[in-house]
Amino acid sequence: MTKTLLRALSGETLPTPPVWLMRQAGRYLPEYRATRAQAGDFLSLCYTPDLAAEVTLQPIRRYGFDAAILFADILLIPDALGADLWFVTGEGPRLSTITGPDGLKPLKGKDDIHDHLAPVYETVKILSQELPSETTLIGFAGAPWTVATYMIAGRGTPDQAPAHKLRQEDPATFDALINLLTDATIEYLSKQVEAGAEVVKIFDSWAGSLKGETFDRYALEPAKKITQKMKQRFPGLPVIAFPREAGDKYIGFAKAVGADCLALDTSVDATWAAQHLQKDGCVQGNLDPKLMITGGDALRQEARRIVDALKNGPHIFNLGHGITPEADPENVHVLLEEIRRA
Ligand code: CP3
Repeated sequence: MTKTLLRALSGETLPTPPVWLMRQAGRYLPEYRATRAQAGDFLSLCYTPDLAAEVTLQPIRRYGFDAAILFADILLIPDALGADLWFVTGEGPRLSTITGPDGLKPLKGKDDIHDHLAPVYETVKILSQELPSETTLIGFAGAPWTVATYMIAGRGTPDQAPAHKLRQEDPATFDALINLLTDATIEYLSKQVEAGAEVVKIFDSWAGSLKGETFDRYALEPAKKITQKMKQRFPGLPVIAFPREAGDKYIGFAKAVGADCLALDTSVDATWAAQHLQKDGCVQGNLDPKLMITGGDALRQEARRIVDALKNGPHIFNLGHGITPEADPENVHVLLEEIRRA
């Protein structure tokens, strides 16, 4: 029997949507915090296959989600390319910055990342052996624009201003970085699929700060190139695209890119999505993660509203963004009970 997530991705409308949550392996779970402490720090956790596999499996054991997502981070690609990466507890990622052509010089080529990323591929291999037979394994990478925003600024930024500045003032350097990331991402995702990932997801968390033509050029085009190349190498491989906060640009995105599924952020209305997006294929989303903190009837009603709005087409239930450390683990049970209630 085909796995439920793969059925939804192939365009099937199911009586109950398959479900998983972004950041389902994370700090809201005590067992995650324990394994992370054992690893020492977040990056060591990402690069220790047994522990990374363990935290990937924890939410599957606890909740029985329909999919597991590889435990890693979108910033492992810059790390592998040679941009020093570290995480400041309570603050987030830090990297070297890129302010001009010299910033590209220390970076390696697209094919030189695999020694560094070998532990990630090993994690995928372990997971493909250990996951329950009904659970789909999702691999992932950051989209070139989103990853570039961190590499240019050296950290997360509220408005991605340093990346926009480089894009406008030194387009040659900016384009070279986007092209390197696009090509490296194709090689990285290919190794994940060879190791056992059954689906890949491309996270463009900051797509919403690109407008008009620049959106097409730096969000749509790289996603299209990655998707096309992956499908050429691995015919039938399902691809989930997440152009977060793309607004109207969500319309036609999946078709233009060739993706099988469009992941929706919390700002997208589910009824609107049913009208404008679901005709092109599966949609994934999009409960507000805040409801996982507060729970109760508000959580149940909103989950039910999303399920009902999207029930006439292919749908994978998820949040509109990652579950937060403040979420109550009990609320995940409440959510699953509501979604899976006949
Ligand atoms: O979803 C999953 O469970 C799989 C693993 C995963 C992580 N990060 C683990 C993680 C995935 C798919 C990501 C994607 C990611 N990483 C994105 C895109 C999705 C999104 O949230 O928009 C981005 C922008 C990043 C970069 C990143 N990683 C930031 C900005 C931070 C710090 C903020 C924070 O939440 O602490 C991280 C750290 C990170 N990545 C954590 C986890 C579980 C928390 C690390 C910890 O344990 O302290």
